[in-house]
Amino acid sequence: MEAIILSGGFGTRLRPFTYTRAKSLLPILNEPMIFHLMKTLPKAVDTVVLAVNYRRDQIEEFFCSHDCGKTVIVNEEPQPLGTGGAVKFADQFITGRFFVLNADIICSANLAEMIRYHDKKKAVATISLWPVEHVSEFGVVDITDEGKITKFVEKPKPEDAPSNLINAGAYLLEPQVLNYIEPGKLVSMEKEIFPQVIDNTDRFYGYQFKGHWIDVGRISSYIHVHTFLLEQHKKPFLTGEDCTIHGTLRRSCVGQKVHIGAQSTIISSVIFDSARIGKHVSVDNCVLGEHCEIGDGCNLKNVAVGDNETLPEGTILENTMVWHQPIPAGYPQKQIGNVIGE
Ligand code: GTP
Repeated sequence: MEAIILSGGFGTRLRPFTYTRAKSLLPILNEPMIFHLMKTLPKAVDTVVLAVNYRRDQIEEFFCSHDCGKTVIVNEEPQPLGTGGAVKFADQFITGRFFVLNADIICSANLAEMIRYHDKKKAVATISLWPVEHVSEFGVVDITDEGKITKFVEKPKPEDAPSNLINAGAYLLEPQVLNYIEPGKLVSMEKEIFPQVIDNTDRFYGYQFKGHWIDVGRISSYIHVHTFLLEQHKKPFLTGEDCTIHGTLRRSCVGQKVHIGAQSTIISSVIFDSARIGKHVSVDNCVLGEHCEIGDGCNLKNVAVGDNETLPEGTILENTMVWHQPIPAGYPQKQIGNVIGE
């Protein structure tokens, strides 16, 4: 059985870190985001098709040097084809019912259970569902008591919402769904294909699960996934190898070869490999990129400092991003699309 992992997006909301790397390789607890997803794949999945485009070389290089216990096929689109187009572009590898997974969701969905549910319902498509508090920010599903989805309702007012359940980014599809997607076109699975499958088959189901679900789409949720997982693992902080830490760490994750000077405090933050942080520095709710240098006495709150950036001594910054280098050619000026529908 195959799983197509959608990992071709630019990840514009996670810039400046996605200026230099594929979003799916951003570290979460010092392991690439996509590796966390790989660990949740059930035994039934023996082949993973990585639907890639932006920074394909980095993703391929990572899987060449790391065995994940599955056959991995790197399938590069000629240009970004959207979530539907990317799935259609992988159709030559599909041998039966298959998963489609967003690479940027960290959650506790049990995919083996989802297969059993899909088979029991004789579904044509099953999507994972997650309950949210603020329905008006999302597309929610209209769902029967038996779990059949009859339609999607975009950003409803709370009083008009048919449910509080949103698309959680894992799909289990029968091969016939591929017939609905026109090849070579930019197609959204969620907006263009799913409504047709609902109308034509009446066998579109929703699978609910308990535990956690985090869409790691923004800097705030990127930090949140760290504090959440640290708490879940009962760890006050995490450090990689070869670090010299003279300051204090709270609810934070630090990569390899990081130096943190005396009297510095790092709270609810993520620090990438080889960063150097001086003395008397305060870092709160920040992400600091690889090889960045933070001078003595800096005070940073809600700041994203890109790879290789340097902040001089005594810099005070709040609610901003630091990036002084050229933006890579072809990187979009704004978000192209949004799968989950915030
Ligand atoms: P933003 O620009 O911040 O919205 O991020 P994104 O480009 O990753 O888009 P989004 O979060 O909506 O994408 C959800 C998942 O689909 C991510 O895992 C993306 O890598 C993936 N994705 C989005 N667009 C494409 C595409 O055109 N091709 C492929 N192969 N994957 C895509």
